[in-house]
Amino acid sequence: MRLDFSQPGGFYLKRLFTQTAGLLVLLFVFINSAQATTPSASAVASAHPIATAAGHEILAAGGNAFDAAVAVSATLAVVEPAGSGIGGGGFWLLHRAKDGFETMIDGRERAPLAAHRDMYLDKDGKVINGLSMNGPLAAGIPGEPAALVHIAEKYGRLPLSKSLAPAIRVARDGFAVNERYRMLAGFRLKQMRKDPETAAIFLHHNDVPPVGHVIKQVDLADTLTAIAKQGHAGFYAGEIAKKLVAGVRKAGGIWRQQDLDEYRVVERQPIYGEYKGLRITSAAPPSSGGIALVTMLNILAGFELDKMDETRRIHTIIEAMRRAYRDRAEYLGDPDFISIPTKQLTHPFYADGLRNNIRLDRTTASSNLPGAVQNSAGQDTTHFSILDQEGNRVAATLSVNYPFGATFTPTGTGVLLNNEMDDFSAKPGTPNAYGLVGAEANAIAPGKRPLSSMTPTFLETDNRLAILGTPGGSRIITMVLLGALEFAANKPVTDWVSRTRFHHQFLPDAIQFEPHALTEKQQQYLKDLGHKLKAMTRQYGNMQAILWHKRNNLISAASDPRGSGFAETRKH
Ligand code: GLY
Repeated sequence: MRLDFSQPGGFYLKRLFTQTAGLLVLLFVFINSAQATTPSASAVASAHPIATAAGHEILAAGGNAFDAAVAVSATLAVVEPAGSGIGGGGFWLLHRAKDGFETMIDGRERAPLAAHRDMYLDKDGKVINGLSMNGPLAAGIPGEPAALVHIAEKYGRLPLSKSLAPAIRVARDGFAVNERYRMLAGFRLKQMRKDPETAAIFLHHNDVPPVGHVIKQVDLADTLTAIAKQGHAGFYAGEIAKKLVAGVRKAGGIWRQQDLDEYRVVERQPIYGEYKGLRITSAAPPSSGGIALVTMLNILAGFELDKMDETRRIHTIIEAMRRAYRDRAEYLGDPDFISIPTKQLTHPFYADGLRNNIRLDRTTASSNLPGAVQNSAGQDTTHFSILDQEGNRVAATLSVNYPFGATFTPTGTGVLLNNEMDDFSAKPGTPNAYGLVGAEANAIAPGKRPLSSMTPTFLETDNRLAILGTPGGSRIITMVLLGALEFAANKPVTDWVSRTRFHHQFLPDAIQFEPHALTEKQQQYLKDLGHKLKAMTRQYGNMQAILWHKRNNLISAASDPRGSGFAETRKH
C-alpha cells in the first residue's frame, strides 16, 4: 500500500504516520537502552575444568558467587597445586549486587615474625641463591584458608561443609595429571625431589607423573575437612597448626604458633579509575596491580590509540608500561607498613606529567627516568572469574608464587607451602647503575605482606561488564592492561584471552614479547625508535574472563587457550 498525503484527509494521515513513527523511534530507543539488571546466566572461568565444575555445583546448590569462589579456590588448591593452594594466599575482589558494595579480601601471606630484612643475605651481604625460593624459609604465613573462611562466613550463604565439599571429594578421589601439570612439575622437579613429602604426593616414583596418573591427597582432604568443621581454627590452631609449625621448624624454617595465631585477612578498598568512560575496579596494595593498571590507562587516555597505526600504538603502550612499573618499584609495598601515595599515583593529573615526556618518535630509556630497583615476581599463580545470576561477582587471583611454591609440604598436612617471601626485595637499598636507591617500600619486615602483581579486575561501561585476571608474575599487570584495551575496543571476550602479548617493566629495559606478537617489520620499527627487544620462547599467562552485555543480556566467558582451563555459562 502506498500512502498518499496529498489526498483529502492526508493531513491527518500524515500526522498519524508521523506520530506512529515517533512512537516507534521512542520504542526502539527504549528497547535499545534497556539494561538487564540481573544476568541471564551465571558464569565461571577458571584454570581447571574440575574447579569450574565445582563453582557451578555450588551455584546449583543455592550458593552465591561468593560461595562458588570458596569452592573454586579450594578445588584449584587440589587440582592445580602448581598455581595456588591453602599453603598460599591471594586477593579476592568482590562485588555484591544488592547494594553495589565492593571490597578486596586481602589473603596475602605475611612474613613470619622471626623474619628480618637481611635473612636471605650471606655475611658479605650477598643474596644467597635459592633461600627465598625453596624450602620452608621461603614460605610466608598462608592467607588462603583464612580468606576462604572469611568469605564464606561474611558473604556466602552456604556453610563451609557445603562449599568445601567438592574440593574435599576431589582431594580424596584424586585428579588426573594433564600436560600442563607435567610441564610445571618438570620445571620444579629437582627441588620437588628434595622434600620426600612433596615428592610422595606430587611425583610418581620420584619423577614427573605421566598424563592420566591420578593424584590423591588424603592429608589435604583431612586438612580441608578440619577447616570445613572448625573454620579458621581448623587451620591456624589445633593439630594442623601444630604439624605445620613442627614440619617447618624441623626443616630449618622459622614459623611459630604465634604467626598462625596472628594471621588475619584484611578487607581493603579496591583501587578505582576511569578510562574513556570505562570504570576500573582493581586490586589494592599490597598488590601493585590496581595502581599500575590505572596509571597506565590514565597515561593512555591522553592518546587516540584507535587512530594510531599498530606499531606506534605498541610503542605508546610500552612507554606507559615503563613509567607505571618504575613507580611500582619505587612506591609500592604493604600499606600497613609504608605510606603509599595512592591518590597521586592514580590521579589523571599525575598521569599527564608522566605522559608529557613520552615521545612518539623514539623511546625513553629507563635510565633516563628516575631510578628504582626492580624486584622479581613469581611466574605461576592462578586466576578465576565468577558471575552469578543475581549479579554478584568475584575476580580472584591466588598464588603459591613459583610453580609448586617452596616445594615443601609439612608432614601429615598435605599443605604445599608457598615461596611468596621471594616477592619481597631480598636486598633493598642496593643502588642501581645510576646510584639511585629503590624498593625500600618492599623490604622484608616481620608480619609484613610482600608486594604482589596480582590484578583481579572489573571493567564496566554503561552497557558492558568484564571480570578478568591472569597469572604470570610481573607480566600480570600488562596482560590485564592489554585485556582492558580489548574490552575498551569492544572486542569479544575470546579476543582478550587469546591476543598475543608484549610487556615492559622498566627494568630490564627491553620489550618482552610472545612468539608472533610482533611482526619482523614491527620489530624493526621499534628498534629504530630505540627499543631493545627480548623475544620470549614461550607464550605466557592464563587469563580467565567473563563478559556481560547488559543490553542484550548475553553472558560470554573464555579461558586462555594457552592453559587448560574451562569457562562455562549456565542457567541455574
Ligand atoms: N607471586 C606472584 C605475585 O604475587 O605477584
